[in-house]
Amino acid sequence: MGLKDKKILLAVSGGIAAYKSAELCRQFIREGASVRVVMTRGALAFITPMTFQALSGNPVHTELLDPAAEAAMGHIELARWADLVLIAPASAGFLARLAAGMADDLLSTLCLATSAPVVAAPAMNQQMWANAATRDNMERLQSRGIALWGPASGDQACGEVGPGRMLEPSDILDRVRDECFGRPLLKGRKVVITAGPTREAIDPVRYVSNHSSGKMGFALAEAARALGAEVVLVAGPVSLATPAGCTRIDVESAREMLAAVESSLGDAALFIGCAAVADFRPREVADQKLKKPVQNPVLELEENPDILATVTARYPEVFSVGFAAETGNLLEHAAAKLDKKKVGLICANDVTAADSGFNSDKNTIVALWRSSGELRQSRFGPDHKKTIAGNIIRLTAELAGWQ
Ligand code: CTP
Repeated sequence: MGLKDKKILLAVSGGIAAYKSAELCRQFIREGASVRVVMTRGALAFITPMTFQALSGNPVHTELLDPAAEAAMGHIELARWADLVLIAPASAGFLARLAAGMADDLLSTLCLATSAPVVAAPAMNQQMWANAATRDNMERLQSRGIALWGPASGDQACGEVGPGRMLEPSDILDRVRDECFGRPLLKGRKVVITAGPTREAIDPVRYVSNHSSGKMGFALAEAARALGAEVVLVAGPVSLATPAGCTRIDVESAREMLAAVESSLGDAALFIGCAAVADFRPREVADQKLKKPVQNPVLELEENPDILATVTARYPEVFSVGFAAETGNLLEHAAAKLDKKKVGLICANDVTAADSGFNSDKNTIVALWRSSGELRQSRFGPDHKKTIAGNIIRLTAELAGWQ
């Protein structure tokens, strides 16, 4: 009964994912929440109000200017009643109207009139999600503090594959419990996270690097922020948007990354080394572009500092989490890194597994730690990196004793 006495206004807009919201409504009720459902006209084409009325035990609201509904609970009253407004599914059309600040139907008016947090779980065709107009609208909504959860990637009802699926009801339920009504596990704590690859210059136009996309580190930053942390995200060169509310420091090389980490760590409680730091850098960096014929085409390398090991040695009071990217003997190598780098938790990651590792939106992690000397483990995924990130942050908070 994790949502006892919480008042959730579940808003359903038009989309095939509307059927999943019926299950979500049922789960909220099972968790002890009071649920009132608002449906847009588009939603009525996919599912009937009767379904939600039966599941929520309350009449369903569909019209702005319906005298009978207004007499029972007017739209302003409904906006005041809610502890949370959750729009699931949130269609491209509704999100555009919300971004424009429209008040021409019940739901858009409610969203303007409420002082409760508004969360949207978008669901639409992947091309619509990628469209520049939708991108603009999402940025506007996020800059106004409206949280966007998802969408997930995968098979779509329209037969296409890509980002646009509404998150699963169980994922939305977890996030409502933890992020909207849970105790903010990391409130008052500073978290420093490294993400992405590093680039080690050979000459002004060439470099040594790796395939890291930064997605896992950015998902961790978003998850830590959602649980109340002050987040500093030290990012190698990646093309990802900064998660809302996080401070980002962009770096290129491993040495720059270490300097940025050390300048941020002073009052931090947690360090997560998620970056794929280049282990070696060219010994000499040519100040002019190397031209053919090159006299001696041998690239001499020297070792980069180990950022994670430096942090655990110099800042023992900071709880440190590392990653182990492996292509074989996953647990053995990861356990060795746990002990060698003296981290509180290591997240082992088989980067050769299908639908996992670099560049994928999904991941599978085996988290390893020691408890009274005994090696313990917990497996997360295969699942979306955002979901895995929440799992890792919650486990970290537990191990650090921040419950
Ligand atoms: N790491 C780091 N600085 C480095 C290398 C790695 O901070 N110069 C961190 C990574 O961010 C990760 C962990 O150490 O959290 C393990 O990284 P990984 O690349 O898996 O291992 P390495 O230590 O580089 O060992 P190896 O290449 O031998 O597997």
